[in-house]
Amino acid sequence: MTVTVLDLRECVLMWESASAAETERLGAALGRLLRPGDVIALLGDLGSGKTVLVRGLASGLGCAADEVHSPSFTLINEYAAGRGEWEAAGGDRLPFLAHVDLYRIRSEDELPGIGWDAYVNSRCVAAVEWADRALRWLPRDHLRVSLETLEGDRRRFRVQATGPRSHQVVLGWVEAAGIRAEAT
Ligand SMILES: Nc1ncnc2c1ncn2[C@@H]1O[C@H](COP(=O)(O)OP(=O)(O)O)[C@@H](O)[C@H]1O
Ligand SMILES: [Mg+2]
Repeated sequence: MTVTVLDLRECVLMWESASAAETERLGAALGRLLRPGDVIALLGDLGSGKTVLVRGLASGLGCAADEVHSPSFTLINEYAAGRGEWEAAGGDRLPFLAHVDLYRIRSEDELPGIGWDAYVNSRCVAAVEWADRALRWLPRDHLRVSLETLEGDRRRFRVQATGPRSHQVVLGWVEAAGIRAEAT
């Protein structure tokens, strides 16, 4: 797979996935790199693969990936993390993956009511679908992934870092996923 480097200083990259399985694998590679406090903002139309990517993320974090589906009545699902190093980090509560889906939100005013701050500025990893509905609420440094549906099973990922931590994550992701970089 080839990644197109749109702007390395700003860390904007683009690549394509050819199948749902590949997207899940890419998600798992990302999940293995994440730490508590990281926020992944997912943008893209219905069916573009946001939830598939989160399923991969969950498995990379050591969560039960087969339980991952878009939250339907709630806006947030929690998945307990199983990754050993997190457990070793101590604390009586395991960090977890918070899977947020803002598809049904009518206004940003609802965010405090769904416990946004408890999840997004916390010890957990947060993956936010339809993050375009809450851009102003995201932490300054988050990883932004925009998915676009191409023909058939092809999906285009546009990945953007917004600060030093997400920059580090993007570079690690490219390396872990074995993507070859190619400047435009
Ligand atoms: N390359 C791909 N990446 C991700 N999903 C894909 C891909 N090709 C086909 N699909 C299918 O597209 C659908 C994506 O659904 P989902 O992840 O729920 O989308 P979203 O959460 O963005 O609405 C799934 O049915 C998946 O099997
Ligand atoms: Mg979804």
